[in-house]
Amino acid sequence: MELKLKREELLRRQNLIGGEWTDAVNGAHYSVANPATGGIIAEVANSTKADARAATDAAAKAADAWRERLPRERAEILKRWHALIVANTDDLAAIMSMEQGKPLAEAKGEVAYGASYVAWFADEATRIYGDLIPQQQRGKQMRAIREPMGIVAAITPWNFPLAMIARKIAPALAAGCTVVGKPAEDTPLTALALAALAQEAGVPPGVLNMLSASRDQGIEAVGDWLADDRVRKITFTGSTAVGKYLARESAGTLKKLSLELGGNAPFIVFDDADLDAAVVGLMAAKFRNGGQTCVCPNRIYVQAGVFDKFAELLAARVGALKVAPATDPQAQIGPMINAKAIDKIDRHVNDAVSKGAKVLTGGKRLTEMGPNYYAPTVLAHATNEMLVTCEETFGPVAPLYRFESEEEAIRLSNDTPFGLAAYFYTQDMRRAERVSRALQAGVVGLNEGAVASEAAPFGGVKESGYGREGSKYGLEDYLSIKYICQGGLD
Ligand code: SIN
Repeated sequence: MELKLKREELLRRQNLIGGEWTDAVNGAHYSVANPATGGIIAEVANSTKADARAATDAAAKAADAWRERLPRERAEILKRWHALIVANTDDLAAIMSMEQGKPLAEAKGEVAYGASYVAWFADEATRIYGDLIPQQQRGKQMRAIREPMGIVAAITPWNFPLAMIARKIAPALAAGCTVVGKPAEDTPLTALALAALAQEAGVPPGVLNMLSASRDQGIEAVGDWLADDRVRKITFTGSTAVGKYLARESAGTLKKLSLELGGNAPFIVFDDADLDAAVVGLMAAKFRNGGQTCVCPNRIYVQAGVFDKFAELLAARVGALKVAPATDPQAQIGPMINAKAIDKIDRHVNDAVSKGAKVLTGGKRLTEMGPNYYAPTVLAHATNEMLVTCEETFGPVAPLYRFESEEEAIRLSNDTPFGLAAYFYTQDMRRAERVSRALQAGVVGLNEGAVASEAAPFGGVKESGYGREGSKYGLEDYLSIKYICQGGLD
């Protein structure tokens, strides 16, 4: 598949540093591949420490002027960026589908989703309030004001190449911070296109810097940001292992961190649920982006009285999903991101089957379609001993577990070090309240499978990380509070 764009200049292969598009200092490149075919889409800069340092220098140089802008002026620039993202939806979606594999319709949905964060934080920029603290002593006035944290390093994953970086950059810029960004090795092109549009929208040189890097070089580049005390905040979406590494390594300069890490989401279907609605909710939550999201249900607990019926309804829907390359207008599931991802899915399914799971549909690679395709799968009789229970599969696999009581469902759901999303379906109002409170998760879907929104706080508890993205809470992570105590007023 050839990448045809309306605006060819959105396909950027260089870094954006200090307003200039530049090669890596050492001239190195790496290849970005199409997961559907393995074909090379583009060669991009393989940045090193030196590039990371140059980006930080540029962000530092731009910092004072950006924080001094009126919030309204920052908001205007963000609004222009939002309009350009929306106007270039077709190109952004084409780039994203090509490098990430998601069906074109889903990629367009992600452009709108990512853009919604830019619009949201453009508005929030003008609502950064402080407090006048009620007077405690005569002649003294005490105030709390909010200030930008400083330089932010934004490090993002491949599963949502546009939305994840937009929802980090937009609040950072709204708050008055400058940004150095590094998208995932597999999907730099969407982020670079987004940076090009930011530049076009009038984001001044150095306020947003974006660089691409392969995995090994990327670790070095990020290492430079970790050690540099000018970088005051790191915002990261990705694996828990990398999140812990960032927390450890940034301790030397005590940076503020926002970590949106792995999940292992439970999805509970109680006997009293509307089963049709539960199937619709599960399809939306589980099979979005081919099951490659941190909020995907990974363990589906179904109460004994409705287990067989639910399994039958679900398997029929999942078996009918259309697996096809992103370009096929009927595609509902595209290729997985790479060989490592598909090997993991295969290993999880084989492990489950070897331990007694029954394949209701799917359960195999679709090698005839290309290297990275996997059939959407439903497994019955899943048990705690299986890999699917304790590791995120990150693919189109829905393992079903049978449970008897509400207490058991809550215990099993919470029996994980993770706590990002959790879902449950019930029509009993008292149960709805009890279970919402009992689930250990940052996000709960109650009779709802589509939970993400720019207006809502997104983030986890336990080893799923800390910090929130989206909503009024999402801005707080980029601001620090300064207390000013003024005397001599009597
Ligand atoms: C993720 O799960 O990786 C992000 C999901 C979202 O924004 O919905």
